[in-house]
Order: sequence, then C-alpha cells, then structure tokens
Amino acid sequence: MEQQWILHLKDITYTYPDGTLALDKLHVKIPKGKKTVFLGPNGSGKSTTFLHMNGLLKPQKGEIYYEGQNLSHKARKNLWKKVGIVFQDADTQLFSTNVYQEISFGPKNLGFSNEETKKRVEEAMKATNVFNLQHKPVHFLSGGEKKRVSIADILAMDTEVVLLDEPTMSLDPKHTAELMEILEKLHQKGKTLVLSTHDVNLAYSWGDYFYIMKKERVLLEGTHEDVFSQRELLEEANLEVPLILEIYQHLLERGKVKALHPPRNKEELLKYL
Ligand SMILES: Nc1ncnc2c1ncn2[C@@H]1O[C@H](COP(=O)(O)OP(=O)(O)OP(=O)(O)O)[C@@H](O)[C@H]1O
Ligand SMILES: [Mg+2]
Repeated sequence: MEQQWILHLKDITYTYPDGTLALDKLHVKIPKGKKTVFLGPNGSGKSTTFLHMNGLLKPQKGEIYYEGQNLSHKARKNLWKKVGIVFQDADTQLFSTNVYQEISFGPKNLGFSNEETKKRVEEAMKATNVFNLQHKPVHFLSGGEKKRVSIADILAMDTEVVLLDEPTMSLDPKHTAELMEILEKLHQKGKTLVLSTHDVNLAYSWGDYFYIMKKERVLLEGTHEDVFSQRELLEEANLEVPLILEIYQHLLERGKVKALHPPRNKEELLKYL
C-alpha cells in the first residue's frame, strides 16, 4: 500500500523575534500511522518544527498541510484538535491548579460531556501512573511527575497525531519503559506518533521513519537503512551509530553472524548469537 502522509510541512522558514533563524526552508512529511523520530543537536530546530506541526507557530514562509488540506492560515488555529503536543518543558504546558483539572482541560475544550471527560481523565491518569496525585497542585509535582501529567493531558484528548518533544528527558527508567508501552498501544490503535530525542539507541529501536536535523534544516531522512548506515552524517549531527547496530557490524565483520537483517533491539540481537 502506498504510504500516506498525514502532515506535510513545505519549505517552512521561521525566525524568532530576536532575529534567530530557527528553520530555513524546512521540508518534512509525517507518515500516517507510523512512528517518526526527530534526532538532532541542541538548537537544531526540533521544538520549533513541533510547534509548527500543531499550529502554535505561524509559518513566516511556506505551507502546512494536514491530510492534504492547507492549514497555513486561519484553519491553523484548529490544528490542536488533531495534533496533540507534549512540550519539552512541562512548565510551559501545565497551568491548572491541580492534576485532575489540568488533564480535564483538553477533553472539556473539545466539547465532551462531563461524564465522557471524567472517563477520559481517569483512564489517562491510570495509564501514566498519576491517579494518586490527582488532587495535588501542579506546581508541587516533581519533574518526572509533571512530565507524566503532560502526557496524560494528551492521552485524554485522544488526538489523531501525538507529538512528544523529548518525553523521556525527565523520566526514570521504569517510567520511560511505561511510556514506551503507552506509545506502543497508541501505535496499535493506528495513531501517528512523532517523537524528538537525543537518545539514538531509543530512536533506533522505536522508530519507523527518521529525520536527522542540523542547524535549521534536515540533514538526513528515511528508514533505518537510509539513515543509520551514514556514520559521517550522524557524527555531523553530534550522534553516534546505535549500539545494537555497532555490535552487529563488528560480529558480521568477524564472521560471527550471517548477514541477516540488522537487529532492531536487544532481543533480536541476542537471537543472532
Ligand atoms: N522563543 C525563542 N526566542 C528566540 N530564539 C529561540 C526561541 N526558541 C528557540 N529559539 C532559537 O531557535 C533555535 C532552534 O531552537 P529549538 O528549540 O527549535 O531547537 P531544538 O532542536 O529543539 O533544541 P534542543 O535539543 O535543545 O531542545 C535555537 O537557536 C534557539 O536558540
Ligand atoms: Mg527542543
């Protein structure tokens, strides 16, 4: 089946009010129902790209399409109903007095009944392990708890596309693993997921499609095969070859494994040994 692209950012240029050029003719397409990862060094424009994808920033040049419809202008303001975002900095996202109110804000604004909102909020709180914190003021939460509440915000809205800007940054290993399970469930429901990270190993094991960014632009894009064999370009973006792939290539060179499909995760690698 031919790949459908749910979001299409065409030649987007964006300069912040202080004169910083953040995106320069950025061209990005997001595959529908897939897991896309943005990798790239600090300041390369990942967050600015995400803010365009959910309609928070207006492109100064270029166009944004959602399901083929041009949303660069007025209709951009409705993009948040289709594209949810978990911000890199939870303090930018959270603003309600307590956790329960915070998570109910999205579904209420989407026009759901009190009953449906309550159901969604409770499910989202259970999935992210914040049920016990529901009466706690948002500003007293720890960094990781805030992050989990931001994720619950988006789960309760149940948008078609979910953008997660460095969601694992303040999570401990257990909650990172739980987040990855939540994302797997969303993927199985057919949602389109887009995540940014500096963790090349997590990206390699999780993603289907990759954008490597460097200085306002896309340096490299494509599938595992297109991207992770380009050692020099990865280094240019301050990234390393994923550890699993590195080990596999060493084993291959020493004749310890046959030239099978490169493993995507630890389990696949162990099967080859
Ligand atoms: N509100 C702002 N005002 C001025 N400049 C900004 C603002 N936000 C971002 N920038 C600048 O835009 C560029 C791109 O920033 P952006 O946050 O998109 O990068 P990033 O790839 O998400 O980086 P990181 O990995 O550190 O999160 C940087 O040079 C940054 O300094
Ligand atoms: Mg960022």
